[in-house]
Amino acid sequence: MLCQSNEELQKLVDEAREYAKKGKVADYIPALAKNNPDELSVAIQYPDGRCISAGDIHEKITLQSISKIISLALVLIDHGEDAVFRKVGMEPTGDPFNSIAKLETMSEVKPLNPMINAGALAVTHLIKGNTTEDRFNRLLAFSKMISGNSNIGYSEEVAESEMQTSHLNRSLCYFLKQHNIIDEDVEELMSLYTKQCAIEMTCFDLAKAGLVFALDGKDPETKEQIIPVDVSRICKTFMVTCGMYNEAGEFAIKIGIPAKSGVSGGILGAVPGKYGIGISGPSLNEKGNSIAGLKLLELLSKKYSLSIF
Ligand code: DON
Repeated sequence: MLCQSNEELQKLVDEAREYAKKGKVADYIPALAKNNPDELSVAIQYPDGRCISAGDIHEKITLQSISKIISLALVLIDHGEDAVFRKVGMEPTGDPFNSIAKLETMSEVKPLNPMINAGALAVTHLIKGNTTEDRFNRLLAFSKMISGNSNIGYSEEVAESEMQTSHLNRSLCYFLKQHNIIDEDVEELMSLYTKQCAIEMTCFDLAKAGLVFALDGKDPETKEQIIPVDVSRICKTFMVTCGMYNEAGEFAIKIGIPAKSGVSGGILGAVPGKYGIGISGPSLNEKGNSIAGLKLLELLSKKYSLSIF
């Protein structure tokens, strides 16, 4: 079903777009510097199949950290909670997403949560499959299933750009390997992780995936349970506590929607029982979250009383 453009939503987009000027696109992954800082689009997917949108919903962005929710769901299904939480913790850090600081100072060497890069690398390590290619294809197939779009792929350019420049993530991998959190070849893991982060979706795809989490793991069309209820609950809880990194507290107070951001400017939101929200707005604030996207979610949350608190 097509997503209908909506005037009321367009007004909110126009208001929020003003904030894009105050931020800038990520450039530490060189290919992301090509993203358009003025772009802002949103799609809201309803359980009955209706969808409303504003902006250019056909613009694709790479998932970046939004992929961490999808890989987490997959490995929780693959291994169960106990095995996953032996490798990664459940606590917010209050630190930037790529921080290495707490890894060394905690009494137990284990990344604090699966949303920071160190924790996400430990999670990606757990994706099952015989080869790196198999593992990526499983993650891609899972991404296609939850977004209801079999045409989803990944940007080789963005994956390669991160692969060549991601020295900090490599150092996190070596640290994790030294402490037996991972035991695979670091280049293999980096190759899988950078492809994972480079999976591309439109805000429409993000909204559909968000709706699956909002509906406790049920496919809105077939009503099939495609993610177990508990896995969906864990993912939503991490969205609330760690989805916006060191901005999670302010986000919970001002917006109050389980959501996950990525440095390409995407946000996936899951309003429990009600809506999936997908946003694309590449201009970022200093915490690495979409600056106009956050404003737009704040306007939406206030106008439609979407806070879960
Ligand atoms: O590992 C990285 O740094 C990126 N591929 C993903 C980071 C990210 O999206 C953080 N989110 N706001």
